[in-house]
Amino acid sequence: MANEYGDYQTPTSLAKTVLELLKSEGYDFENIIEPTFGKGNFIDEIPEVMSNVRSIRGLELQPDYYNEALTKERNDIKYELYNDDFFIFDLNKLFDKSTNNLIVGNLPWVTASQLSRFESKNIPKKSNIKGLKGYDALTGKSNFDIAEYMSLSLINVISSLNTKSVIAVLVKDIVAKNIIRYIPDSNIYPSKFSIYTINAKKEFNVSADACLMVIEFNGDEKFDNTVGEYSLYNPDKLIRRFGWSNDNFVSDVKEYKDYSIYDHITNWNWRSGVKHDASKVMELKRDDGKWINGLKEEYNDNELDSKYIYPLVKSSDVRKQDIHTKFRKYVIVTQAKPREDTSHIEEDSPTTWNYLIKHKQYFDKRRSSIYKNSPEFSMFGIGDYSFKPYKVAISGMYKSPIFSVLPPKDDKPAMTDDTVYFVGFDNMTDAVVFAAALNGDKAQKLISSLTFTDSKRPYTKDLLKRIDVISILKTTDIDELNTSAFSKVTKNDVDSFINKYDNDLSLF
Ligand SMILES: C[S@@+](CC[C@H](N)C(=O)[O-])C[C@H]1O[C@@H](n2cnc3c(N)ncnc32)[C@H](O)[C@@H]1O
Repeated sequence: MANEYGDYQTPTSLAKTVLELLKSEGYDFENIIEPTFGKGNFIDEIPEVMSNVRSIRGLELQPDYYNEALTKERNDIKYELYNDDFFIFDLNKLFDKSTNNLIVGNLPWVTASQLSRFESKNIPKKSNIKGLKGYDALTGKSNFDIAEYMSLSLINVISSLNTKSVIAVLVKDIVAKNIIRYIPDSNIYPSKFSIYTINAKKEFNVSADACLMVIEFNGDEKFDNTVGEYSLYNPDKLIRRFGWSNDNFVSDVKEYKDYSIYDHITNWNWRSGVKHDASKVMELKRDDGKWINGLKEEYNDNELDSKYIYPLVKSSDVRKQDIHTKFRKYVIVTQAKPREDTSHIEEDSPTTWNYLIKHKQYFDKRRSSIYKNSPEFSMFGIGDYSFKPYKVAISGMYKSPIFSVLPPKDDKPAMTDDTVYFVGFDNMTDAVVFAAALNGDKAQKLISSLTFTDSKRPYTKDLLKRIDVISILKTTDIDELNTSAFSKVTKNDVDSFINKYDNDLSLF
């Protein structure tokens, strides 16, 4: 998606489907605006589908496209098409204040940071954005979609109209999500907000979650700060409603209502794993009685002893709901807490010290500022919690929220990398009860109602802390808890877990 104009011309068939949908929704309005019309595929289709259209207005920056679009004009419609820049143009000129306005089109698919990489001049001009509704939320972010900025600029004008008007644009899903997210704090007052997902791979050969975002203003409905999600290819079937449920931003409003009784800020101390930025030398494999690092160097036990070596679990390992007994990787753990002096390793394990010294250059070239002014061979994401023998872990990155139990291996607790979140326990039974509750129906439904799986890290510490495992255990039948891969837990195990951790304000 890397071109300076975010240029993806809409296939005629898609433009037609979009217009037919808008017509069926009652948006067959007199003035139709195509804000960045490109070759004019929407402009061409509008008179084919819409019966009431009298004027079509719009903008396009690239002259060749502009000229091509002009050839699509017809006699019975008034056109005002400008070869101009959205960011400096007076958008008010596109609207007819005396009638209903429909904005329809496909805004550029490009982000502010992509534009700065191209050193592009095609960026919002600062002077134009002051006072824009929702502007603070948008520009507070270091990166945003240009389509989000353009949508807000158009919404800003629509909000000043008294007539029923609609913006219906093809955008990435994230644009729609961002807009609904900050609506309660803005002075944007829609009457209805829907998205119709499209297959961007098929339509544009782009791998992105994208939709037709339709926001209606001055309609009859009372807006409840939620968005109805449909598929453009099956627009009558509601998939879900996402958005605001009181003060919570949720991915499924109905499901959230059913499971919100398990949503409380708890004291479970979710942690992420170790960070060292030197995987080539810190991460090891075990093969044929030898340690092998990422440089393919091999070490016998008398060349590198195991005193500071721990089993390691990475995101890709916690995908299966399982009790981990086989470990693919190991990690050298140089500290027991952040910033701890590491020089004692020289005496405690000379082979480890020699190994670290031999690979010093890999540590010295670590760029992240967290390593500056820290002892040699430092790592982060380490503390007492790292050495808890039993852990219940989840990858922050994978789509399905699967919780695994990590028992120790050869008396060494398993470590995780920093894309994995975990809670530590002192015994296996507590870990199994905790994981069984999290893998059970109630926790899974609560999690799915809160998360958008298209985000990069759907599961965060903040989200995990909200799952009230004790309430779930108190209200769940023992048979529902025993998920297949886990060893059986008894009612006694669950009761003693509840007794131990209920009201415990210091869950390590
Ligand atoms: C995703 S394409 C869509 C084109 C057309 N709306 C369609 O649906 O086929 C985005 C269009 O925005 C135009 N564009 C990009 N930046 C612009 C700007 N600052 N002002 C006006 N048009 C711009 C591009 O040239 C391109 O034609």
